[in-house]
Amino acid sequence: MARAKGRSPATSKGEKAWGGRFTQKTNRLVEAFTVSVAVDRRLYAYDIQGSIAHCQTLRKAHVLTVTETKTIVKGLESVKRELDRGRFRFTPHDEDIHMAVERRLTELIGPLGGKVHTGRSRNDQVALDIRLYLRDQLGLLTVALESFQRALVAKGKANLTVAMPGYTHLQRAQPVLFAHHLLAYVEMIERDKGRVRDAVARLNVLPLGSGALAGTNYPVDRLFTAKLLGFPAITHNSLDAVSDRDFMIEVASGLSITMMHLSRLSEELILWSSQEFRFVDLPDAFCTGSSMMPQKKNPDVPELVRGKTGRVYGHLVNLLTTLKALPLSYNRDLQEDKPALFDALDTVMASVEVLTELMRRLTVNRKVLAQAVQGGGLLATELADYLVGRGVPFREAHAITGRVVRAALDQGCELTDFSLQELQKFSSRIEKSLFARLTVMAAIDQKSQIGGTARARVEQRIKELERRLS
Ligand code: ARG
Repeated sequence: MARAKGRSPATSKGEKAWGGRFTQKTNRLVEAFTVSVAVDRRLYAYDIQGSIAHCQTLRKAHVLTVTETKTIVKGLESVKRELDRGRFRFTPHDEDIHMAVERRLTELIGPLGGKVHTGRSRNDQVALDIRLYLRDQLGLLTVALESFQRALVAKGKANLTVAMPGYTHLQRAQPVLFAHHLLAYVEMIERDKGRVRDAVARLNVLPLGSGALAGTNYPVDRLFTAKLLGFPAITHNSLDAVSDRDFMIEVASGLSITMMHLSRLSEELILWSSQEFRFVDLPDAFCTGSSMMPQKKNPDVPELVRGKTGRVYGHLVNLLTTLKALPLSYNRDLQEDKPALFDALDTVMASVEVLTELMRRLTVNRKVLAQAVQGGGLLATELADYLVGRGVPFREAHAITGRVVRAALDQGCELTDFSLQELQKFSSRIEKSLFARLTVMAAIDQKSQIGGTARARVEQRIKELERRLS
């Protein structure tokens, strides 16, 4: 049939393969507005892996012959090599990575390349690519989180007998081991790894075979494709499969929680390295100076980790908001998922890596910490518990100790500066045996239940963690 005047075949060189339905070329602005290849090109290896498995499934379904399959697979491998080596030339008409790969495949093997997309849509294709990508990336993240945990455990172990003031409300509360404080973060990261594991278990499902939304007309064996790609399960509703991004939201929320943990540690590092605390020194190589004030050494790395935390939270909210009012099934809005997901992953990865190295090189100022635990009435609870041990009801013991603390404050001294006679004026139950209790290490070692800060407990936990992380 003759084409109407002014119409051009939409598949002519340099135009997109939208096919005969279109009578106009895509507008230049629209092309620029809809393009996503700069972002989704990082999926190329997974895209090609998925296409190869798809072709093998089509062969099994007798949609492709053995020879056709071989040629297509070889072609796809060549495209991958070009991409691996940075030799792949993207054209301005490559809208996304899926179309770029197919375009190049067809250039290499001819019209047969056009068969690769049989029974498939970019909707199930992209859903597959992201799942494959995340499976790998989350494996790498887990490895990075374990290195971070090892750095914290090692720093704790190297400072096993170092006490520091433990805080509540940022007020000095009770002495704890510096190692105990660091191990708190190891526990947080342990939970973070658990969240990553949970997310992987749920996203490790094959969506391919869902077509654009309704399924596919070809008798493909989806369980076979799943096996080829190492998926233990397949999706059971095509509409859901092409539009589900729950797994990304789960990952982004897990990443947000990890950033929150890193940010809390960063906040402490910023405080501890200040003139006001001086508990630690950050390595020079991880700080910057001021262009104006020569004395400055700024904790930029932890500050940036703290700052980037908001960015990752933003990506989580971005994904939730993108999904919240989308009708089934696929909508182009979903293309906006990838910048958020990728940046969240990149940001967390970079933050974990840099903090790991920083923690390895952190210097603990033992002298300052030793001084810090002498002040602040850190042993007041010990006095109260000593009285309880001598039969005084806790409330009364608390009140007596409060009066001792008040007196120490009034006289500008510490609890431990009072003589036995002075202390006995507050309670006749106080005896010489108190003084053995009123030391920092005695206070620490007394907390010997599982989870407490006693040296023996912390040492034991370090051993357990070392075994688990080795
Ligand atoms: N680039 C698209 C995305 O990321 C791929 C799927 C496009 N599908 C479509 N029907 N336009 O979501």
